[in-house]
Amino acid sequence: MKILVTGGGGYLGSVFCRLAWSAGFDVVNLDTGFYRDGWMRLASWSEPPLHDQDVRRVEESTLRGYDAVVHMGELSNDPVCNLDPVVTAEINHHASVRLAGLARRAGVKRFVYMSSASIYGAAADQVVDESTPIQPLTPYGHCKASSERDISALATDDFSPTFLRNSTAYGASPRMRFDIVLNNLCGLAHTTREIRMTSDGSPWRPLVHAEDIARAICEVLRAPREAIHNEIFNVGDDEQNYRVREIAETVAAVFPGCGLQFGPPGTDKLSYRASFAKIHRHLPGFKCRWNLRRGAEQLRDFYQRIQLTPEMFRARAHTRARQIEYLRTTGQIDEHYFWVDQ
Ligand SMILES: NC(=O)c1ccc[n+]([C@@H]2O[C@H](COP(=O)([O-])OP(=O)(O)OC[C@H]3O[C@@H](n4cnc5c(N)ncnc54)[C@H](O)[C@@H]3O)[C@@H](O)[C@H]2O)c1
Repeated sequence: MKILVTGGGGYLGSVFCRLAWSAGFDVVNLDTGFYRDGWMRLASWSEPPLHDQDVRRVEESTLRGYDAVVHMGELSNDPVCNLDPVVTAEINHHASVRLAGLARRAGVKRFVYMSSASIYGAAADQVVDESTPIQPLTPYGHCKASSERDISALATDDFSPTFLRNSTAYGASPRMRFDIVLNNLCGLAHTTREIRMTSDGSPWRPLVHAEDIARAICEVLRAPREAIHNEIFNVGDDEQNYRVREIAETVAAVFPGCGLQFGPPGTDKLSYRASFAKIHRHLPGFKCRWNLRRGAEQLRDFYQRIQLTPEMFRARAHTRARQIEYLRTTGQIDEHYFWVDQ
């Protein structure tokens, strides 16, 4: 099966491309390379063939001949989307819907869209499933919601979009992100032996390993059409709904000698627990192989192996909003985030 992966050079994309490649999929990566400075070179990782291109400039001809598109090429968290909600909408909403439309015209049968469980918003202690009304809180969440709605409307007998509402990811990747909760806390524990939480850690945050997300995508690509056609799936595992407090305590336990302090309640509005019954029902081959404890141990070993220093941990290329701000203020990308030299 021939797959075009947009954003395949990112944190999740580089894990997915490698796993899909070794599972026998014919993978091509299309990425504009915002974070190319942040590659952790390890002997066992290699990059797939690359179309160095912005998704907004993709033409129908680029998409011909592919069986599926896995669309990950968006701005990927709240801080980076808050920098400019207008450009965020151009990339995360309009370009995603346009790409899906072009894919349909080009005869691509499947379109996997990387949505986010954060679109459930402040669901407090409620357990959310795919039928729960969404309450996006931010430009990032609003774009995910709009893209789901508009891409879903493109579904036909010959074009099957699938929407993966991923939990917050964690785990080792060659294109490491330190701005997601477990990777960040483990980085603090490794570099400073001290975690100072700004909140009391009471919000719920489902987590899922990057490799388990990659496996979920592979299952969607392999599944019979009726199992995935225009379906939404929460991606994760019921066992991996954690309170932020538990995440921090696990990290402190895995990194010996790490101090831990909590802040006052109420500073983190995002809180939700998710049900993952549907993905297991529709895709019986999908199973999460990782959990919080094992993920923290993997990161501890990974950070030791790459000799993560405080400078590497703080480097802009591993924090999405700081890298985009840097590219903008140094004039490397224009006001619409196109590279100025292309
Ligand atoms: N990492 C998580 O915890 C998580 C959770 C839920 C959903 N997601 C979603 O999964 C997807 C991938 O996330 P990630 O963590 O790998 O993010 P990432 O920022 O590491 O990767 C995104 C990649 O997309 C590329 N990209 C961005 N805009 C582009 C454009 N206009 N044209 C071409 N390429 C472009 C970037 O260069 C980058 O390589 C995103 O859509 C994100 O919203 C991620």
